Amino acid sequence: MALARISGPSIPTAQRVSRFSYAIRNIVAEAQRVEAAGTRVRYLNIGDPVAFGFQTPPHMVAAVERAMRDGHNGYGPSAGLAQARDAVAAEYTGRGFAISADRVCMTAGTSEGIELALTAIVDAEGEVLVPMPTYPLYTAVLAKIGARARYYRTDPSRGWTPDLDHLRSLITPAVRALVVIDPNNPTGAVYSTATRRTLIDLADHHGLAILADEVYGDLGFNGPIDPLGSLQPDAPIISFSSLSKAYIAPGWRTGWMAIGSSARLDAVVGAVKKLADGRLCSTVPMQHAVVAALTGDRSHQASFRAALKERAEVTLESFKGMSGVTCVAPAAAFYAMPQIALPPGRTDEDYVLALLRATGVLCVYGSGFGLAPADGYLRVVFLAPPNDLKEIYKLMADFTREYLSE
Ligand SMILES: Cc1ncc(COP(=O)(O)O)c(C=O)c1O
Repeated sequence: MALARISGPSIPTAQRVSRFSYAIRNIVAEAQRVEAAGTRVRYLNIGDPVAFGFQTPPHMVAAVERAMRDGHNGYGPSAGLAQARDAVAAEYTGRGFAISADRVCMTAGTSEGIELALTAIVDAEGEVLVPMPTYPLYTAVLAKIGARARYYRTDPSRGWTPDLDHLRSLITPAVRALVVIDPNNPTGAVYSTATRRTLIDLADHHGLAILADEVYGDLGFNGPIDPLGSLQPDAPIISFSSLSKAYIAPGWRTGWMAIGSSARLDAVVGAVKKLADGRLCSTVPMQHAVVAALTGDRSHQASFRAALKERAEVTLESFKGMSGVTCVAPAAAFYAMPQIALPPGRTDEDYVLALLRATGVLCVYGSGFGLAPADGYLRVVFLAPPNDLKEIYKLMADFTREYLSE
């Protein structure tokens, strides 16, 4: 017997969804419309090296294949495989931030580590210091758990380094953690040792956990950058990283968090493990590749860094030649944040959408990272081959000249 068709009002969704926003992917819907209308879209919005032809090192792929063939396809321990946690601990320890394996948790990318840490540390109504501009996952997760981001400025006139006076002025009794993204997405900045030390001192003094997002740590144009914790291994620092960027395997969703040895973080270790139990484990075959990645050949990183440096130079040169456009030189990763001198009344989103519709070039507007819409910033991902980038920047230059003269 056929069931009668039931209809009625739609199922309401939770209010937290309206507060959750992730501009990097949100604008793709418009790009798809542009593509359907027949314009070739150049995706400069997502930082995925694989999408631009960079390849996951073969010995890592072999390690995953072998693990699957050897039958490592069941659940693993919730904090991660012992050998992967050992490899992560040895990596940090070798770089001056002594970590014991029992304070490492393997995660589904840096992203899950960030979510676990914020969930473990911050109550609803709690506050977290987040850089502005920021990688948007921080504010999205804070919205989800009912907590608040307090944005500290980073200053483009000083290479996008944190405005420490502004940061100090935001510390209230409700603040629980300080997010430091260094090397930075979206700006490509790398902080000086003096700045890093001040950030550690501030957090230590105010009893804040430092959430150190170090997913680009191996992608400084002039070589790997030591973890923040190497400056003061006993400070309350939690470092996050993954195979996504420097090991060119973002689709594997495999990363880790390393919780520093400070006794102030002992309860956090317990809380993170409790939460990690709830999601059973992270990707098991890929954790075998963590061992291969961290203990094996890393020569791909040197050529990746050289390729990024070359693309950064092409990017800067191109922006230098565009009237109405300025850009701070990035020092790591694959992002740059040019600023367009917008006419009054226009927003960064207006510009990005107009650029997309006219040329097919897709960037992310700066307000998606927390900047003021009228300031005219946007983020470009410069992973495409240099000749493609030159073509893309030519399209941008022609469009921008017209846009600013309207
Ligand atoms: C600063 C920053 N943190 C975290 C992530 C997420 O990385 P994962 O793929 O390791 O989750 C990204 C990805 O772009 C990022 O730029």
